Amino acid sequence: MTGELSPIDKAKFVAAKRAAGLVEDGMRVGLGTGSTAAWLVRCLGEMVREEGLKFTAVPTSTRTAELAREVGIPVTSLDEAKWLDLTIDGADEFDRDLNLIKGGGGALLQEKIVATASDQMVVIADAGKEVENLGAFPLPVEVIPFGWQTSQALIEETLVSMDVLGRSASLRMNGDRAFMTDEGNHILDLHLHRIGNARQLALVINQIPGVVENGLFIDICDTVIIGYGDGNVEVR
Ligand code: 5RP
Repeated sequence: MTGELSPIDKAKFVAAKRAAGLVEDGMRVGLGTGSTAAWLVRCLGEMVREEGLKFTAVPTSTRTAELAREVGIPVTSLDEAKWLDLTIDGADEFDRDLNLIKGGGGALLQEKIVATASDQMVVIADAGKEVENLGAFPLPVEVIPFGWQTSQALIEETLVSMDVLGRSASLRMNGDRAFMTDEGNHILDLHLHRIGNARQLALVINQIPGVVENGLFIDICDTVIIGYGDGNVEVR
């Protein structure tokens, strides 16, 4: 499954592999989205095919659902599963309090719903995702397409009154078209550089008309499994 991996892929793989070991027969498990989560799905697929692991999987995007089916993991919806034992997902940034920025892959809405419907959320990440302060990675905010420029202007106005360095919000593109989430929404990426009060910012952004959800995951993650390029793994 792995062949010769670059240090970054090795780091993602070893974190994913360790997290896959947390999944036991009969569990209901949320499967994240992104390149690190894809390693997890491949590891779990191998466990299903070769060890007969049986668990209920709830994917957080159509991409993850397709990969899961491809590797032999049957998937179901969150409404069907109702409550999950565990969600394992990647992150774009995590800080020492295990608060996160997510949504680099555009799946933050389903990811947040699935994570908050879980007894435990475990993040898998390469060591480069750890930051002193959240915000160097642009903060994704999902907005409905109707009047998105008004939402963008309101967000930028709001940022002026907050403890953030950057104040611009750009529409995420996919080639020459606006990026579309699985829910048919757009993503505005907020270029903040450093977020002073992530908790407050997350609450304030979600009050703006047109905003569906933002990529700040505050007090949601329980554990981070950090992978290193030399194959070491650290659990926090
Ligand atoms: C997708 C996400 C991903 O978990 C995040 O972007 C990390 O991705 P990767 O593992 O590819 O670095 O939030 O919406």
